[in-house]
Amino acid sequence: MPAELHPRTKITTESIFSRMSRLALQHGAINLGQGFPSNPPPAFLLEAARKAVGTVDQYTPPFGLPSLREALAEDLGVSPEDIVVTAGATEALSSLADSLYGVGDEVVMLEPYFDAYLPQTLMVGARPVLVPMRLTDRWELDLEALERAITPRSRALLVNSPYNPTGSIFSREELEAIVTLAREHDLWIISDEVYDELYFEAPPTPLRALAPERVFTVGSAGKRLEATGWRIGWIVTPPGLAPAVTGMRQWSSFCSAAPLQAAVAQALPIARAEGFYPQLRESYRQRKDLLAQGLQAMGLEVFEPVGTYFLTARMPGLSAETLVQQARVAIIPGSAFYASSPPPEGLVRFAFCKTPEDIAQALERLERFLKIRG
Ligand SMILES: Cc1ncc(COP(=O)(O)O)c(C=O)c1O
Repeated sequence: MPAELHPRTKITTESIFSRMSRLALQHGAINLGQGFPSNPPPAFLLEAARKAVGTVDQYTPPFGLPSLREALAEDLGVSPEDIVVTAGATEALSSLADSLYGVGDEVVMLEPYFDAYLPQTLMVGARPVLVPMRLTDRWELDLEALERAITPRSRALLVNSPYNPTGSIFSREELEAIVTLAREHDLWIISDEVYDELYFEAPPTPLRALAPERVFTVGSAGKRLEATGWRIGWIVTPPGLAPAVTGMRQWSSFCSAAPLQAAVAQALPIARAEGFYPQLRESYRQRKDLLAQGLQAMGLEVFEPVGTYFLTARMPGLSAETLVQQARVAIIPGSAFYASSPPPEGLVRFAFCKTPEDIAQALERLERFLKIRG
């Protein structure tokens, strides 16, 4: 037997998200860690899937089922020719890593970061350059630090808005500043917009609207339609670049699950017509308020999100392990989102895509635990 696997396998181990979910099960904890909804997807999506299984069952073209490209194009206001359907946003991001950079290149991204960004960059031999967000009484983008991080080796800027884990949304001015930097230094922009329909104040501006020639947008049906296990995501490419990106992704999964692509194609216009997204936002707003108010009542510092289904707060002096074992509430420690600098003191992330009952019970458990601990 050959002695060793490639050193690349050492880039990544069990993610903190899987670990916290495993510990949550082991300790009977309420899982406010990993970001997946605890409710089923909407009935119109499930119905569409039932009809599609047995009808749309064979390979689709690697750029995606034509009806899904059409439905996405209509929904996003872009051309179907510029869409590549992927196996979740995760594959969209890895296909872009394959397409845009490689050995010796640098990719500038913000810290805290979504966990996939780092290994995906490292696996193609590029170097992630992390720029910490500033945390005062809210999360702030440090544009000067972003500019300082750009070198002649930089190939791309990777940004996420609405932003996991901070829950912030970049303003139009901030996005314009990002585009200016990208134009000055001739960089691609990868804009991870998987939470594009999850906002609590003004809707986010799609970055591609400001620089269609250099922005790749990443989206996820899993996030929009509460079906994270279906693995349907997409990329909107700058005009003319979809065939090259499709060329890369066809050698990973070739195509995503055909009947589920068909179901999402059917569901996207229904979601718009029936006001599904405003209902989704309202239901998340209630859960966000429940969680934020509950944590604030315990005296914790909460950074209230304006988008996503995540909330960050400070719980200094407590480890995620202690919380899952003793309070029986699973959360994600801030350290999961930092690699180049220490996380802000006591930072934790809560996911509120859980039932109000679970959130209320988690709050009770935390309150009891904090009281006993004194
Ligand atoms: C910011 C961000 N990007 C991408 C993804 C991956 O999405 P998907 O489940 O569609 O692969 C997630 C999932 O949590 C995310 O939070």
